[in-house]
Amino acid sequence: MELCVRSRALRRCSIQTVTMAKAKSSRKETAAKAEGISKAKRVAPALAVNIGSTPATRFRGNPDIFGQLVLDHDRHRALIAMIEETHGDSAVRKKLFTELTREVKAHAAAEEQALWSSVLRDPKTTEDARHAVAEHKQIDDFLADLAARDMASSGWLRRFAKLKEKYLHHIREEEQEQFVAAERHLTPTDLKHLRSVFLHRKRDEKAHVEFKKKLKPSLY
Ligand SMILES: [Fe+2]
Ligand SMILES: [Fe+2]
Repeated sequence: MELCVRSRALRRCSIQTVTMAKAKSSRKETAAKAEGISKAKRVAPALAVNIGSTPATRFRGNPDIFGQLVLDHDRHRALIAMIEETHGDSAVRKKLFTELTREVKAHAAAEEQALWSSVLRDPKTTEDARHAVAEHKQIDDFLADLAARDMASSGWLRRFAKLKEKYLHHIREEEQEQFVAAERHLTPTDLKHLRSVFLHRKRDEKAHVEFKKKLKPSLY
């Protein structure tokens, strides 16, 4: 600390502090991304996950709702990348597509109830919330269309590529634009509270699907 008394030494100290903070934040982001990928990998551990680079976001690894949402997004990115590694009407493709559908639907429903419903009430961010919810409906339609088609047909992967393009666009826009705008109108307490609302809602959503599956297994 004594070295920091002189101005040159003080500058050096502050550069070191910034560098250490950046390294810490980069480790946190890498660990959060690895966590999302490993959750996806549990479905098919032998399959490669070529997720590649992801759009930069300062929310990755955050302890609030945005960190949790980005963790889910990375899990979805990994599931999409794994599906692209599969072939034809294979059991592993079916398993991964079922998991992607279940995860994306539960995520979207919980995101709408925890985040977008709060954001919708503020006139400054109403349009962002509407846009995100409208895209959820489009993604839902894509998933239903793919589920009704023959996975072994060449058209299936072409349609899947369109879903991928749409979904990656949706989550990039959320991470880089809509979450940034929403964050300005929410307090740190709101953000922590919304994370817990999101997690509860997502868990209930998945449990509800499992219940419906038991009642009418032919539909799933
Ligand atoms: Fe979304
Ligand atoms: Fe999302």
